[in-house]
Amino acid sequence: MSNTIVIGAQWGDEGKGKIVDLLTEKADVVVRPQGGNNAGHTVISDGKQYILHLIPSGILWPGKLCVIGNGVVMDPCALLKEIDGLQEKEIAVSPENLRISDRAHLVMPFHREMDAFKEANRVVKIGTTKRGIGPTYGDKVDRIGFRLHELVGDPSGFAERFHTRVTECNRLFETVDMPPLDAEAAARELLAAGERLAPYCADTVEILHRAMKEGRTLLFEGAQGTYLDIDQGTYPYVTSSNTTSGGACTGSGVPPQRIDRVVGVTKAYTTRVGEGPFPTQNDELADRFHKMGREFGATTGRKRRCGWLDLVLVRYAAMVNGFDELAITILDGLDDCDEIPVCTHYELDGRKLRLPPASARDFERVVPVYETLPGWRSDISGISRYEDLPANALAYLAFIEKETETPVTMVGVGPSRDQTILR
Ligand code: IMP
Repeated sequence: MSNTIVIGAQWGDEGKGKIVDLLTEKADVVVRPQGGNNAGHTVISDGKQYILHLIPSGILWPGKLCVIGNGVVMDPCALLKEIDGLQEKEIAVSPENLRISDRAHLVMPFHREMDAFKEANRVVKIGTTKRGIGPTYGDKVDRIGFRLHELVGDPSGFAERFHTRVTECNRLFETVDMPPLDAEAAARELLAAGERLAPYCADTVEILHRAMKEGRTLLFEGAQGTYLDIDQGTYPYVTSSNTTSGGACTGSGVPPQRIDRVVGVTKAYTTRVGEGPFPTQNDELADRFHKMGREFGATTGRKRRCGWLDLVLVRYAAMVNGFDELAITILDGLDDCDEIPVCTHYELDGRKLRLPPASARDFERVVPVYETLPGWRSDISGISRYEDLPANALAYLAFIEKETETPVTMVGVGPSRDQTILR
């Protein structure tokens, strides 16, 4: 297999975990390049469900190396909890199969507090996961962040700078009647976490380049989705990292010409958690999924908003990410539909838009224009060959290919590993 990036074409939760899990079989190294424990990747393996937040889902495969890249923001205590949780389920996690970039920024307790405080007091909410992601990336860009090499390589220097920073934060917290942080207790916890994480900390850029020299293949597991990208998404209702394919390069130190393949993942319909525009939102469809126990967030348990497939989104995602192919997930989610509306373009003030507008206000005002395709009204969850899908399901997939100018190569028809049809 060639070096491959897997990217969500919507607002995250497209089922990337399962596609990555499938592609991992032929990869040697699985890299997580951006985001933090705001992500929740659900993978069902051997009948057991795993929800991964920071660790690449390649960890479920023996013999694969997993890398948390420099573009990730990592909460040391959350990561240790995740490692412990996997080990309890008898999944081997050790510095043999997990390495973390020495340059990865750390989510600090004050970042989490700030995230929660800002979100609670925002008049127009973003609906963040309150994991401290925005404030951590904010400090990174402001050049006042903490990186893993500092915590594990210079604990006393880290402790000193941490105390100064907590003093500054507590001054700020006092002005808004927030309880102060206990710097001593927090530093103790972080330093203990640093000791445990030290064997995992490495120059992962060197590791990845060495792996490529040895002819090993890399798989990049993008977190969130294109429309949560800080540049290309529905700003300001986005996360704080580059979730698009370029972010896989900057977040890992692997240059663009070493990437051979970009796989876009899109649900057969659309979902979104958190606030922000969603032109094809349909509450009836959402009710249907929620009653079936589907479409609850893997990280926060929140009900996902649901709607019809929006090809304006997938079309633009194919452009900005350079999708070579598409994986369509949860096609079986539409099994019960008599008819399936698909949004082909928007109308805004009498203009036809085939690509998303820049402004969130315009995004809220666009009118989705649908083409309605016939449903297949049958259970496709047991089908394993593309050509065995019902004619109307094949027509639905062909329509997506035509509108996005991207071939569909994988189709998900159920949650487990063997329920993905490879074309
Ligand atoms: P943050 O990343 O916690 O700052 O949240 C910003 C926005 O991104 C919110 O709307 C979140 O719900 C959304 N978000 C962040 N991570 C994910 C994810 O992994 N899946 C889906 N939505 C996400």
